[in-house]
Amino acid sequence: MSDTDPTADDCPYSNAIPMLGLGTWENTNPAACAESVATALEMGYRHIDTAQAYGNEESVGKGIAAADIDREAVFVATKVWIDNLAHDDVIATTEASLDRLGVDSVDLMYVHWPSRTYDAEDTLGALNELYEDGKIDRIGVSNFEPDQLREAIEISDAPIVANQVECHPLFRQAELREVCDEEDIELVAYSPLARGDVFDVPALQDIADNHDASPPQVSLAWLRQQGVTAIPKATSEAHIRDNWQSLSLTLSDDELDRIETLDETGRRVDPGFGPWNQ
Ligand SMILES: NC(=O)c1ccc[n+]([C@@H]2O[C@H](COP(=O)([O-])OP(=O)(O)OC[C@H]3O[C@@H](n4cnc5c(N)ncnc54)[C@H](OP(=O)(O)O)[C@@H]3O)[C@@H](O)[C@H]2O)c1
Repeated sequence: MSDTDPTADDCPYSNAIPMLGLGTWENTNPAACAESVATALEMGYRHIDTAQAYGNEESVGKGIAAADIDREAVFVATKVWIDNLAHDDVIATTEASLDRLGVDSVDLMYVHWPSRTYDAEDTLGALNELYEDGKIDRIGVSNFEPDQLREAIEISDAPIVANQVECHPLFRQAELREVCDEEDIELVAYSPLARGDVFDVPALQDIADNHDASPPQVSLAWLRQQGVTAIPKATSEAHIRDNWQSLSLTLSDDELDRIETLDETGRRVDPGFGPWNQ
């Protein structure tokens, strides 16, 4: 591992999406949230992930405004919550998200889950109108199973650019990764640190020790080397930096193979309304 921090230029992009971003779920203290967003942007991050349901779009917007980075250089993604997926609610709540974030448009708007008020024609129709109006630059989906993803691609005039799902060394999503590759859709990994569970896996610690790195860095390097974008949530500057330095870590083929043989231990994010539970 190099001693110097990577810069923004060291972060690869895939289909215009910076492949390492900052997650913000449960970063709900307004001052702490704004500060972690500004800290990340000043360190070199250019991708921030939030959602209507996180209750922190306003703080995320303040963090973006506080950082000395042009708005155009930052990739801002948010998500329409499952109660807001009827046509008129998609339009009204997206406009409210833009107001809270303090931006004219977002780079990516996801359907958060294909659940409750989701109706493929109705929901995606509204997102296409927002896309035509220039209020969202791209449409994405989240927590979509392969069949729902294919249906969304079929229905939407604008491309579906990403499917954001749980993915980490303990839940590797082999099938969805393959489907996304076939459809040329980015798989964006949420909970890329398994919400902390990757810290206690001896094989990941062992690989980390080989590189004088940390298990979170090994998880993030593994994802990047699979062509997967990751959005680890971190609040403290130390964690934000530790994750950012994963850009300097490259795992060997043997190490990548070793991760592919780890026991998979299921989902960390598994609400009753998840499509796999219906
Ligand atoms: N689309 C969806 O349905 C969905 C679902 C879940 C998550 N997400 C998105 O994905 C993001 C990431 O997922 P997540 O928040 O579930 O979990 P995660 O990123 O896997 O793990 C976050 C946890 O790891 C800690 N951490 C981060 N970096 C660390 C480091 N280098 N060393 C030690 N600890 C570290 C954080 O602590 P600190 O906060 O104290 O730094 C936090 O407790 C979310 O924030 C959200 O933006 C989306």
